[in-house]
This record gives sequence, C-alpha cells and structure tokens, in this order.
Amino acid sequence: MENRPQWGSRAGFILAAAGSAIGLGNIWRFPSTAFQNGGGAFFLPYLFALLTAGIPLLIMEFTIGHKFRGSAPLSYARLNRKLEWLGWWQVAISFIISIYYAAIVAWAMSYTVFAFKLGWGENTESFLYNDYLHIAKTPGEIGSLVPGVLIPLIIVWVITLGVLFKGVKKGIEVANKIFLPTLIVIFMVIVIRALTLDGAVEGLNAFFKPNWDMLTEGKVWVAAYGQIFFSLSIAFAIMVTYSSYLPKKSDITNNAFITGFGNSAFELLAGIGVFSVLGFMAQQQGVGVDEVVKGGVGLAFVVFPQIINQFPAFNELFGVLFFLSLILAGLTSLISIVETFVAGVQDKFNVSRTKSIMIGGGLAAVLSLLFATQSGLFFLDVVDYFINNFGVALAGLVEVIVVAWVLRELNSLQKHANSVSDIIIGSWWKVCLGVVTPLVLGYMMFDNIRTNIK
Ligand code: PHE
Repeated sequence: MENRPQWGSRAGFILAAAGSAIGLGNIWRFPSTAFQNGGGAFFLPYLFALLTAGIPLLIMEFTIGHKFRGSAPLSYARLNRKLEWLGWWQVAISFIISIYYAAIVAWAMSYTVFAFKLGWGENTESFLYNDYLHIAKTPGEIGSLVPGVLIPLIIVWVITLGVLFKGVKKGIEVANKIFLPTLIVIFMVIVIRALTLDGAVEGLNAFFKPNWDMLTEGKVWVAAYGQIFFSLSIAFAIMVTYSSYLPKKSDITNNAFITGFGNSAFELLAGIGVFSVLGFMAQQQGVGVDEVVKGGVGLAFVVFPQIINQFPAFNELFGVLFFLSLILAGLTSLISIVETFVAGVQDKFNVSRTKSIMIGGGLAAVLSLLFATQSGLFFLDVVDYFINNFGVALAGLVEVIVVAWVLRELNSLQKHANSVSDIIIGSWWKVCLGVVTPLVLGYMMFDNIRTNIK
C-alpha cells in the first residue's frame, strides 16, 4: 500500500483520464450516433445523460478509487467485502474490449502507411475486405493469420505494454502528456481543413438539423446514455483504477468536470470534422448527406479513404494525419484499459507489476490474435455488439444500484469527495445517481431486451 505508484501532477492525471475517455468512440461513434438519433436534437438527451449520469458517475468512481486506493476489485472490496465481484466484472469487460480495440489501432497503423501512397486504391471497400483483411468467405472460418494485420498488432502491444512497464508516472503519464496534446493539434488541423472544403456547410447543416420529434423515442435516450458511458470510460473499472493513483490531497469533483467536458468538447469537434468531410463527399457524388453517413469501421476504413482520394490537394497528408489521430486516440484509451486488469491482477495475487503485465497483458495480446485471422472482422462485430448493447449499460446500472441502494454508500462517498474538492457536491448528486440514472438505465435495459426479442 505504502509504495502505491502516484501521478506526478494534477495535469498528468487529468490528461490520463481524458486520454482514456477520448478514443475511437469520440471519432467514429459519436458523429453517426448523433446524426441517426435526432441530429441537433440529440444534444438534449446527450447533455442530460452527461450531467445526470456521466459526470456524477465519474465523480463517484474517482471518489471510490481515491478513497480506497486500489485497483477496481480491491477498491470495491474495501467499500464492501461482498463487492469484489463488481470490480472483476468490469475488469472482464475491459479485458474483452482491449483485445479488439488493439486490433483497430493496428488497422489504423497500417492505414497510416497506406495513406502515404493512397495505397487503398479506388475501391476502398474491396481493398479493406479482400486485400487488407483477407476476410474469410465463410463467416467464422478462422483461416490463417494475416501478416499485414499481425505485424502492426504486435507493434501496438509492444508500445502499450512498454508504456505500462515504465509505470504509472514515467509510463502512462508521460505517454498521455505526449500523445493527447499531439492528438488535439493534429485534429485541429484536420477540422480546419475539413471546414474549408466545398460542401462542408451542407454537411454541418445535416448534422445539426434538429429532429425534435425523435426525442419521444426511447432509443434516442438509450443511444445518448450508451454514448456517454462508452465515451467517458465509466463502468469499466478504468476510472477507479486511474484515480487510485491520485495523491491524498487531490481534487476529485473539479477533475471530473474537466474530464467530462473535455471529452464532450472533443466529441463535438469530431462531429464537426466528420460531417464537414461527409458534406464534401456528398457534394462530389451529387447525393444527399444522409446517403453517405456511416459510423465505425465503415466510416474510418472505407468512407474516409474514399474521401481522401477525392481531396482537392494534399490527399496523402490528410490521410496520414487522420489515421495518426486514430492511433493516438486509440492508444491512450487502450493503455487505460490494459492498466485496469494489470492492476487488478497485481493487487489480487500480490505479484509484481512486471509479472502482472506479462500475465494479464500477455494473455490479452495472445487472444487479440483472433482479430488478426481471416475472421477478425466477424468476431469484432459480434463482440462489439454485445459489449455495447449489454455490457456497458448493465454494468453501469448494477454499479449505481448496488452503491446507492444496496449498500447506501452515497453519503459517505459524498463526504469524502467534498473533503478534498473545490466544488462541493450537494444532494443533486445523490438524486442523479440514486434515482434518475437507475430509472433511465433500467428503462434502457428493458427496452433493449424487448427490441432484441422482437
Ligand atoms: N472511451 C473510449 C472511447 O471513446 C473507449 C473506451 C471504452 C476506453 C472502454 C476504455 C474503455 O473510445
């Protein structure tokens, strides 16, 4: 306990937490999610979810980590002896996410190299599936390992585990201090370029045009909560782990607000950049913006390369910057995910950090090879679907119900947060966590199950 590692500075912690939050979800998940769920009107449920669930839960997780100073399973166990399983469950979700998140960062690495010569050619879809991923004809048929994916995947793991080997302060903190500011600068350049493209305004109009009627649909609220949870890395044991490295005298509430708003600011920026570019593409093709909107793998690895081909100038440069930003955003998140189970293993089995990185990180790396096989993309879709639809919301729901209602620990946590923070949290915080969040999340789960059964 005494020699638990610590962040070197407040900025170090904030950058690491923001680095975890700002990830692929901000760049490829938020813009299309917002568009499909009411456009400009989506900001209402989104802000509601941020203020009533996202930031309150972030404060709660920061407080648990700071107060109990352990990896998630250990911190939860210290909160209540019977609660260790909650930590392990969340650690397990993180573990699963890490194995496919690493693969996507690896693809971005390959695409950064392709971008130098626009190596994806004209038919970017066929390039992705056939020439790059060598996707198997029959879904689920593992086939062989694809060297083009395997090599960058190994590099991703070497970087990630290398950073973790260096420790919290010299590794994670330093990496985030370099990667995150670099990402923001690169992304600014991308967005400014995007905004000056022909058609950008139409893209933005499509993005911000509010469809107020959609606000009565449950699925829109579900999407807003899902986005906030995934994007802020909450209910994944990550923020508990990171805050367990805070020195005793550290602000909690203010840090949570900075992290939450910083993440959303980046998300908004990504939405503006992506839709400016989509507006440009729609204009080139003479179609409506809604016909070119995509999210996820399709957006980053099919649509973007296609658009980059059509750029008026500096195509290669734009391509390199875009995929570089995916790598940077992805790596800082991946580091946080892997740290979560590395810390869990270390605390539980009382082994050295080095050993737990080799065991935990090594196992994740080996399992991630599944995504370097010819069926990688199929597995990725399946796992991603289950994590997003069941893992995230359920883990968050159980977390608030257990802490607020079963253990009734909100008062003691509030006291702890207020004893160290600039901003004092009042009863609104308990109402958000104890009443609003469980009600909305409960509904979300119910709605999900209902539509999935139908
Ligand atoms: N928050 C990160 C994103 O937006 C992803 C992430 C999810 C990171 C889960 C850690 C855990 O992409």
